[in-house]
Amino acid sequence: MKEETISLARALSKLGYCSRARASLYIKGGRVSVNNRLVKLPSAKVDIDNDIIEVDSRRIAKPTAVVIMLNKPSGYVTTSNDELSRKTVYELLPKDLHLFAVGRLDMDTSGLLLFTNSGQLQDRITSPDKEVSKTYIATVNGKLTFDLIDKFLNGVEIKDGLVVKADYCRIISMDLCKTRVQLTIHEGKNRQVRRMFEAIGKTVSGLHRSSIGKLELDLPEGSWRKLSNEEIDSIFS
Ligand code: URA
Repeated sequence: MKEETISLARALSKLGYCSRARASLYIKGGRVSVNNRLVKLPSAKVDIDNDIIEVDSRRIAKPTAVVIMLNKPSGYVTTSNDELSRKTVYELLPKDLHLFAVGRLDMDTSGLLLFTNSGQLQDRITSPDKEVSKTYIATVNGKLTFDLIDKFLNGVEIKDGLVVKADYCRIISMDLCKTRVQLTIHEGKNRQVRRMFEAIGKTVSGLHRSSIGKLELDLPEGSWRKLSNEEIDSIFS
């Protein structure tokens, strides 16, 4: 797939070399060349596939795509630098990999979270057009009726005029105090599942993501592993 031209600072970040902010510093500091010519403008456009980008005369090659699956425990934030000094998901990953999260899970949500060094893969997984489905197990307080489930399948309004649907929804178990529901959605609006339940008057007390596309979480809580190429493909099949 051919990349469009992007800014030099973004290219260095996409190549996994450093953050965009740091790249801007390197570029302004005269450490970066493109096709053997010094470039001091972070916004200069480059073609990440065809241009030869060097930092301190060392070529920065496109890394092979790495995708990591993490079983995120509840209580960790999906950010690399938390202003409130809460525990971050990056504390659970190896330090030597320059990876970014594919989408995010709320601090109180557990389950399958992907990380990659490939901007293209990240865009493919999170793009609304690609409709990659995500399956969640939600625990809600009290009992649920089947017509509430129907509402999810027909569409609920989570914000003025914003209606979202579940592609699939079923009750796994129910007792007087709580109901466990499995649901699959393909959009990725902020706090979508919790807001869908709020829209039908229910509060989510636990939320866990069990799969993305056909890729199912198969790790103990807090563990991570690299995906094979077949597994990466299964996200889109
Ligand atoms: N929906 C939510 O409400 N929270 C998440 O973390 C993911 C989906």
